[in-house]
Amino acid sequence: SKGEYRHYMLKEIFEQPKVIEAALEGRMSASSVLVESFGPDAQALFQKTRQVHIIACGTSYHAGLVARYWLERYAGVPVQVEVASEYRYRHPVVPEGTLFVTLSQSGETADTLAALRFAKTLGYVGTLAICNVPGSSLVRESDMSLMTRAGPEIGVASTKAFTTQLIALLLLTLSVSKAKGQPEQPEILAGLQALPSLCQQVLGLDAQIEALSQAFAEKHHALFLGRGAHYPIALEGALKLKEISYIHAEAYPAGELKHGPLALVDSEMPVISVAPNDELLEKLKSNLQEVRARGGQLFVFADRKVGISAQEDIRVLELPEVHEALAPLLYTLPLQLLSYHVAVLKGTDVDQPRNLAKSVTVE
Ligand code: M6R
Repeated sequence: SKGEYRHYMLKEIFEQPKVIEAALEGRMSASSVLVESFGPDAQALFQKTRQVHIIACGTSYHAGLVARYWLERYAGVPVQVEVASEYRYRHPVVPEGTLFVTLSQSGETADTLAALRFAKTLGYVGTLAICNVPGSSLVRESDMSLMTRAGPEIGVASTKAFTTQLIALLLLTLSVSKAKGQPEQPEILAGLQALPSLCQQVLGLDAQIEALSQAFAEKHHALFLGRGAHYPIALEGALKLKEISYIHAEAYPAGELKHGPLALVDSEMPVISVAPNDELLEKLKSNLQEVRARGGQLFVFADRKVGISAQEDIRVLELPEVHEALAPLLYTLPLQLLSYHVAVLKGTDVDQPRNLAKSVTVE
């Protein structure tokens, strides 16, 4: 039941510290990731893995896009990520040693399942499903699986399923790296252990985010900006907003602004940006100046340390410091809350948005 919460979506957003902990349980120690979490054959399979293809739909696809940054940076493995409905109608070329990974909350998404069945004819080194539903079709038909342990997700808008997928993908990154004989990454492991409590802190910003949401109630469009692994987080923020509040939202990698979308920016356009403290921060800051110069209204979720201060045309919400690898997880939360509060203000059916189904079992 929803308990004290007004909607399932809000309940599920607030469950994230707990389910993230569950997703990590027994899968790592302070100094090491447990490769066997992915099954008895995982070690041998990951050892042979030279590249990874990730296939999914919707929010799960966005998790895959984040994983590309992680697998390339921390495991040194090239990655392609694609939506299932495109992949399955292409003629993919599969280099030797390629691991096929599907991501799905339900494990029953028609296109993702069809993509897996197709992939099995293409000579992959193995197939892995990262999924929230044990015994689902995707899990049954894959060589290996890892459960995300988010528990039942009732709201159509995916929230805790997404963040636990990210946890699973980070465990995958560390496991592939370890299986390939690369050194363990103690800072990331420590960061993972600290993550549930950091998430709890960020959820404490709820009232401030609710106040911020007022500015969106009358808006018809919104632009989300991010760089690097936070570009997919911007995509996910935009999807959440359009899905439940019916406000048209688009996400761009901040560096693409000048190549078109800047033409849309005026005083009517809210621009939401995630600004963690990473190597791309300075570049992002100059993109934000471009928005300000056009009169755009900026909403920035930023690391406490980055020194973006609130001004008349910039509203800033500060997030706690976090290891760079884990920032995409943490910065997802305020965007979920923002879209939730905007939808509530607009009076939409938050848990059951129009035209959408929780599980898309037809193509
Ligand atoms: O069950 P799946 O993860 O395979 O579902 C994929 C998408 O249908 C799903 O993520 C959808 O985009 C959500 N409604 C987004 O909130």
